[in-house]
Amino acid sequence: MKRNTVIGLLMALLISASFASFGEKMIKPLSEHKPVLSDTFKTLLANADVAKGEMTFMRKCSSCHDQQQEGGHGKGPHLWNLFGRKAGSAMDFEYSDAMRSSGHTWDLATLNYYLTRTDAAVPGRSMNFRGIRRDKVRANLLAFLMQFNDNPPALP
Ligand code: HEC
Repeated sequence: MKRNTVIGLLMALLISASFASFGEKMIKPLSEHKPVLSDTFKTLLANADVAKGEMTFMRKCSSCHDQQQEGGHGKGPHLWNLFGRKAGSAMDFEYSDAMRSSGHTWDLATLNYYLTRTDAAVPGRSMNFRGIRRDKVRANLLAFLMQFNDNPPALP
């Protein structure tokens, strides 16, 4: 390889590495950031496919979480009445200090933000699941989860 090619490649690597770490830093913890839903995401929610959301829940969440009213805690806390709950506050579940002290309340915006990158949204959380990248998949999942509440949240 020519020397210029090597230098060019190195530069490209450096630039992409710094962009990557910049990207990571952009995700602030929920204790410092109040997320809002984008219009695009609101549209996805309004058109959500609840059956697909249920499939995602069954595949990715149900091994640790129960969402039914008559259910309870598993490896993860009971998700019935999640909306409106202060993070880390369900009775009789042993949360991480990180979750207990993160200070936010679960609503569509905080849940969407958390499920995008759980480790960045609540650093130190004990939930062994990194996140769901695709907006549409998250929107379907949220639409499914909304149903399992005494007072289901209204669509934004
Ligand atoms: C490997 C097990 C596991 C999987 C898979 C998992 N979770 Fe969790 N989840 C946990 C644990 C453990 C906690 C408690 C985290 C803590 O205390 O830091 C938790 C916490 C949560 C909380 C916070 C609840 C509260 O009371 O504050 C939400 C919301 C949540 N999970 C949703 C989900 C969803 C939705 C999925 C599927 C996309 C999922 N989890 C997948 C184990 C899991």
